[in-house]
Amino acid sequence: MLDRSRIVGLPISRIDGPLKVTGQARYAAEHFEPGMLFGHAALATVATGRIIALDVRAAERVPGVVKIYTHENRPKTAYRDSKWKDAVALPGHPFRPLENDRVLFDGQPVAFVVAETPEAARDAAALIHAHYAAERPHTDILAERHDSYEPPVARMKQLLPPPPRGDAEAAFAAAPHKISADYLLSGEHHNPMELFAATVRFEDDGVLTIHDKTQGSQNSRDYVCGVFGLDPDKVIVKNDFVGGAFGQALRPKHHLFLAVMASLDLSRSMKVEITRREMFYLSWRPSCVQTVSLAADADGRLQAVLHHAVHATSRHEDYQENVANWSGLAYKCDNVKISYELVKLDLATPGDMRAPGAASGIAALETAMDELAHEVGIDPLELRVRNFVHRDQNQDKAITSKALHACYREGAARFGWSERSPEPRSMREGNDLVGWGMAGGIWEAMMSKGEAKVRLSSDGKVRVSAAASDIGTGTYTILGQIAAETFDCPIDAVTVDIGSSDLPKTGVEGGSWTAATTGSAVQAAAKAVVKTLLRHAASMENSPLAEASEEHVEIADGRLVLESNHQAGIALADIMAAAGLDTIEEHAKVGPDMLSMMRYAAYSHSAVFVEVRVDEELGVVRVTRVVSAIAAGRILNPKTARSQILGGVVMGIGMALHEEGMIDHRTGRIMNHNLAEYHVPAHADIHDIDVIFVEEDDDKASPIGVKGLGETGIVGVAAAVSNAIFHATGKRIRDLPITIDKVLESEVVQ
Ligand code: MOS
Repeated sequence: MLDRSRIVGLPISRIDGPLKVTGQARYAAEHFEPGMLFGHAALATVATGRIIALDVRAAERVPGVVKIYTHENRPKTAYRDSKWKDAVALPGHPFRPLENDRVLFDGQPVAFVVAETPEAARDAAALIHAHYAAERPHTDILAERHDSYEPPVARMKQLLPPPPRGDAEAAFAAAPHKISADYLLSGEHHNPMELFAATVRFEDDGVLTIHDKTQGSQNSRDYVCGVFGLDPDKVIVKNDFVGGAFGQALRPKHHLFLAVMASLDLSRSMKVEITRREMFYLSWRPSCVQTVSLAADADGRLQAVLHHAVHATSRHEDYQENVANWSGLAYKCDNVKISYELVKLDLATPGDMRAPGAASGIAALETAMDELAHEVGIDPLELRVRNFVHRDQNQDKAITSKALHACYREGAARFGWSERSPEPRSMREGNDLVGWGMAGGIWEAMMSKGEAKVRLSSDGKVRVSAAASDIGTGTYTILGQIAAETFDCPIDAVTVDIGSSDLPKTGVEGGSWTAATTGSAVQAAAKAVVKTLLRHAASMENSPLAEASEEHVEIADGRLVLESNHQAGIALADIMAAAGLDTIEEHAKVGPDMLSMMRYAAYSHSAVFVEVRVDEELGVVRVTRVVSAIAAGRILNPKTARSQILGGVVMGIGMALHEEGMIDHRTGRIMNHNLAEYHVPAHADIHDIDVIFVEEDDDKASPIGVKGLGETGIVGVAAAVSNAIFHATGKRIRDLPITIDKVLESEVVQ
């Protein structure tokens, strides 16, 4: 743990903020190289079939066009699938752009134009005519769900459903109160501000420097080296600034492959930036069909939980996420049966999107819990309190910390939950039906392996480095705070160097594990610097620290001192001068504590309370108030942390009311591939959002007590909105998003 707190825990503004608001922070597409070329892909206009012919003659005549690549002239690349597998790849065959004449999904790149200007490349790409032998696409999960299958290879062990407990079917049949329903979730598309882009600097010495929009510079580097057979020392990938990603930039996308392919083939610097439309043809949150059955005794104690989840994947990869397992651990229950299957559709491979699995699965579970509360006739919050469990029953492990009771209590108090009138349709105001709903959220508190370096200079400046990414989450700032904490220096004295593959080894920024991982690595490296300082200080003449041990010293006001007596100490500059050093740099590696992981499971938890107002005649739903109470371990920076939760809540409102990938199932084509027709919440959709952090003192989830915040904020929000709509209208809508038509057409439940 971080023992003291001088800078950690303060609401410090983003240290990268001034660069961003003044336009000095450059994103992947904003780097320029003299003489660079620009690329643009032509996209398939059928969802499945074969390319019979590609007519590129008109495109070739566009002034400025340098070369057009298709599957017929694509340069040679690695043959084996293993070379194409990135760090978070899936079972199956990774997509290879321009591999052959096969079309696997709508919007797949079928040709790639390289030109002297981006306009020429785009213009020419539009003139490429493809002739296809189209086949009948299968893109409707409801039509294909009978063809579901269990994933042959688990992507990760945690994705396997837990073994059944007790006899869920018998307990369900015998229980006095029960509900069972199907819950649908539309496919969703990531829409970060920044589009995928790569700028490749080609140099004669064979070194490629690539600015890539990615959540992991080393993942992109390793992918490029694997696919093109390059030496890892000759490729540097940079992602200093990332304009949001939400999981979509975990795996390398076609823009990176195509930019590097052309750069190597033509020996020129290259830039590829995709369009907003192309963003819709990449990874997406899979459409999902779930059946949840819950049974309770007369007091609302859960007797049976059955959860069956089926979601979409592509033909070529088995995308997997943890949708249903949460139902076996969220509440106390001895009779549990969970199953999980995939359905192959003729669409691009889905991918992780903010709280992948949990956002979908808990939307169903927490709506079902609300239905059960109504059936039993008790308050929805009280139902959850009665079924509280302080153990991971799936894995039969203790939980590192779970301050969920405090989330319930503080969230309910802030929201005013005790004023709720239990009957649906009982809180009318003018034309508005007012509804209050709540739900719980869970996300796994993960930590991965990570490394960092910390360097102290004799002028008191500190430099932190790691190949971590800041995808808008505040990584720069919290790493700076952690270093400043150890050295007791202002955050301005710390330079945070991240976002480059040549820095100490770090995994992708995903799973909400970066603060726990890189934060712990920075703290460990900073402590190693202190240890080195002490070693030098102890050997100085008449040293007051001669007998001191590293556990009992700290840095205060530029001096290394005894914790117990700040008078006994030596200025850092004097220690370094005596040792003849200008800098001290230490490197640290951290990883999850395997012994502790055998005994404990770690999760962050939340309670979300929502008020909606539904115009009874128009069916318009407004989410007028949200209180999100979060228990996620130590909060390093309440300002950046709150921002993460606000973003998660907004995205959860999008999931509940707006976001819906629409496919024409006759053609398998995505119809609403733009921000005019694919709706995300706009400012007018967002009203009061109140975030409460319930601090937890957790020394097991990670060395610095952090559990992660990037994802937990979205989990439960959609269910809370849906439950509030039920409370307002008496209409139970199990098909997300809950659009106006569904509100108007649904019947009031009697
Ligand atoms: Mo997150 S969906 O692991 O970027």
